[in-house]
Amino acid sequence: MTMYESRMVDRRSVPDQGERERILAEAGYNLFAVPADAVAVDLLTDSGTGTMSSEQWGALLQGDEAYAGSSSFADLESAVSAVMGFDRIVPAHQGRGAEHVLYGAIVDDGDVVPNNTHFDTTRAHVEAAGGDPVDCPVEGARDPDAEGDFLGNLDVDAARAVAAEHGEDQVPAIVVTVTNNAAAGQPVSIENVRRARTLADEIDARLVIDACRFAENSFFVKEREPGWGDASIQEIARELLGYADALVMSGKKDGLANVGGFVAVADDGTEAADALFDELKQRAILYEGFPTYGGMAGRDMAAMAVGLREAVELPYLEDRIGQVRELADLLEAAGVPIYRPVGGHAVYLDAASALPDVPAHQFPGQTLVCAGYLEGAVRTVELGSFAFPDTDRPELVRLALPRRTYHREHLELVADTFGQVVDRAASLGGLEIVDEPGRASLRHFSARLAPVDGELVAPAAE
Ligand code: F0G
Repeated sequence: MTMYESRMVDRRSVPDQGERERILAEAGYNLFAVPADAVAVDLLTDSGTGTMSSEQWGALLQGDEAYAGSSSFADLESAVSAVMGFDRIVPAHQGRGAEHVLYGAIVDDGDVVPNNTHFDTTRAHVEAAGGDPVDCPVEGARDPDAEGDFLGNLDVDAARAVAAEHGEDQVPAIVVTVTNNAAAGQPVSIENVRRARTLADEIDARLVIDACRFAENSFFVKEREPGWGDASIQEIARELLGYADALVMSGKKDGLANVGGFVAVADDGTEAADALFDELKQRAILYEGFPTYGGMAGRDMAAMAVGLREAVELPYLEDRIGQVRELADLLEAAGVPIYRPVGGHAVYLDAASALPDVPAHQFPGQTLVCAGYLEGAVRTVELGSFAFPDTDRPELVRLALPRRTYHREHLELVADTFGQVVDRAASLGGLEIVDEPGRASLRHFSARLAPVDGELVAPAAE
């Protein structure tokens, strides 16, 4: 049973089917453009959408808003040090701000950056710095029916081959994303991070860990990796992250905060690490804010400092990962094809199996997303060929659970919704893009689409 009591609620009223059709058409069949109050269950993202604890709200009221030397920054530093083992941080307004600060400093024109799988903003920041982001997932990471404990791992040999092909000097960093969000939220083992460290040493590159979901990843290590069953989440987290030269962190995930992020730099006594830390602070001043707030309000740093400590508590993680597994079981019972094993923050639907008649170029994932909204006002996100053009990805739809927010009844509504959609799969036509502003790797945020046949779905029997 869940160990939370709620004393603050968001009230919801859900638009009826006719209104949902209108809203969806107006939004250009892109759920990023749908107003949140027209959504019954919002599984768009687990980023910044969770529920804070009363301890976090208490800390928030005591945030120190000083421009320089804020005590809330000191609290954040102590929390990162205790929980993640890094003593030097450069705060940023959120994860992508941290990515901008870090990748702009270490990636040059013509560089190549291997990553187990780049998240969209990571890919865009590596590209914006002149680099070529190369995904190196392990075999099975893209197969919805694969089995494995650590399918989020980096294919270290593939990353080594990238370095051999392009030249070691062109590889400024090896990046490991924990958990592997773009590969169905699968975890990464400590053993894999160790091997990535060895490769980084071999080719004189930095090892960067994208630590957004480090606590969830550590839970899987405790559950699955030999030798770690009796360790605390905090011990595991410190071991996992301790191999890195730098971390990029979005506090909107395992910081249990609504906003915020940071880069952490190892304090290993080397000149390279000191120089990097200095350069990052200068970039932070330019792009984010003075290095003791970096785009966050003092109160946001205070809330994240508490959230980081809560994120590594075992009962929290058991509840969190348990809820994701519960949603997966309900969906499967409703006949919806999902990606197994189930990852940390989300259930991923296998859209190609769910909608076999919608060809890849008509975006079966985005079609499923839109059908889920029409059917049950459930908001989800496509992470397949629409979100990641020109990459070889499975057609996934992500149902990300905000932390500490929804109840069993919400999960049942979601499973029922997608069960109905899959039952009527044959009545669904695909989508085409009609407007694609900006960078292709970010198109899923703002592109507009339209049904290929004029209508997405035969009206449901209500
Ligand atoms: N890295 C990973 C692995 C992420 O999942 C995200 C964000 C970021 C970096 C960027 O962090 O949002 O704070 O700027 N992922 C969110 C998501 C948006 O929905 O998965 P941010």
